[in-house]
Amino acid sequence: MRGLLVTGTDTGVGKTEVSVALVAGWRARGLDVAAMKPAQSGVVAGEPSDADRLRRAAGEVDPPELVCPYSLRAPLAPAVAARLEGVEISLERVLACAAELSRRHAALLVEGAGGLLVPLTPRETYADLAVALGLPVLVVARAGLGTVNHTALTCEALRTRGLAVAGVVLNRTSAGADPSEPWNAAEIERLSGVRVLADLPHEPDPVRRAALLADRLVPAVQF
Ligand SMILES: Nc1ncnc2c1ncn2[C@@H]1O[C@H](COP(=O)(O)OP(=O)(O)OP(=O)(O)O)[C@@H](O)[C@H]1O
Ligand SMILES: [Mg+2]
Repeated sequence: MRGLLVTGTDTGVGKTEVSVALVAGWRARGLDVAAMKPAQSGVVAGEPSDADRLRRAAGEVDPPELVCPYSLRAPLAPAVAARLEGVEISLERVLACAAELSRRHAALLVEGAGGLLVPLTPRETYADLAVALGLPVLVVARAGLGTVNHTALTCEALRTRGLAVAGVVLNRTSAGADPSEPWNAAEIERLSGVRVLADLPHEPDPVRRAALLADRLVPAVQF
């Protein structure tokens, strides 16, 4: 399987923003890439979910249930939200959807949920999913204080599982500078030996943000 799994150091760090920008940007430059969100939780009726946004970025050519086989209401880890709804997420079903999307397209981008060790099923985390898919992993992290520790921990967890780390993307979900920002990329590279591929600015306007992120990310992220 060719593609990328996008994880984060936490929930809300910008995985969807980065994923949508990459998928739309790659497609605009001629790469036939599909997008997948194996499980999403905290889905609110009437608001576009991560899967809706990814599917739109990927041209809405694949059925929603292939792009996101598990959509859950409670804003909890997918395995926990599923248990509350009496659903058991099956890794085999997720892998079958990913395989079908890979058959239909040249490449596949998979967005995780929260961070790497979030439980996807009663037995497996997103790290196990990455191993099963055999995809390199892109780590989206905060730009500010705390990110060196969170990012190094995530990279270490990837390495111990033999997973290829595609790189780190630093992102600014909130406005305002943090005194650690000028130092964090170099510290992450020194500690974890992983390259920081992009250092994204805060951009409140969604249209400008989409274009800016794609311009920064598409040349920087390879798989
Ligand atoms: N560079 C940025 N500038 C301004 N706002 C941003 C930026 N990146 C992300 N955001 C905002 O931060 C919020 C979280 O981003 P996003 O939904 O991509 O996070 P996530 O990691 O996918 O979260 P989840 O774990 O829920 O999937 C969103 O409201 C998004 O619009
Ligand atoms: Mg998301």
